[in-house]
Amino acid sequence: MEKRQLGFELTVYDNMDELSAEDRSLMQAAVQAREDAYAPYSRFKVGAAVLLDNGEIVLGNNQENASYPSGLCAERVAVFQAGAVYPNSAIKTVAINVGSQDPAAPCGNCRQSIAEYEQRHKSPIALLLMGASGVVYKCNSIADILPLSFDGSYLE
Ligand code: THU
Repeated sequence: MEKRQLGFELTVYDNMDELSAEDRSLMQAAVQAREDAYAPYSRFKVGAAVLLDNGEIVLGNNQENASYPSGLCAERVAVFQAGAVYPNSAIKTVAINVGSQDPAAPCGNCRQSIAEYEQRHKSPIALLLMGASGVVYKCNSIADILPLSFDGSYLE
């Protein structure tokens, strides 16, 4: 028998000014995207900005529906749009902005969806998370927050 500890590195920045120029402008794009979220039911707006390896930034925000499960989170709106428009480009970073004080990490379904693109392009996807406090969390790979995930290799 063996016990394994799984851990990951989380970088915490006091505010956006501490980010690299690339990360800061991506988070600024997520903040802008959040403003246009359609969240009349939860009133919890989320903005996401995806940076691709071709330099393009693709935006998303949560899109709710009167039939609640038909709505979609900001992260999946953004990464699915990126996959649809730039199918051959790897995602480098996803920035996520929420209205609550603390940064919010993506839900389980969004983690699974983002992980699919990490595996597809065999390239780590970093996450930048920020709430109203301005504190930013950065993790280096979506796999860090979705360990032991199910992926296409099981289907081969
Ligand atoms: N939401 C996101 O957009 N991303 C997440 O990772 C968590 C939740 C949205 C879904 C719904 O529109 C609202 O936030 C409240 O759950």
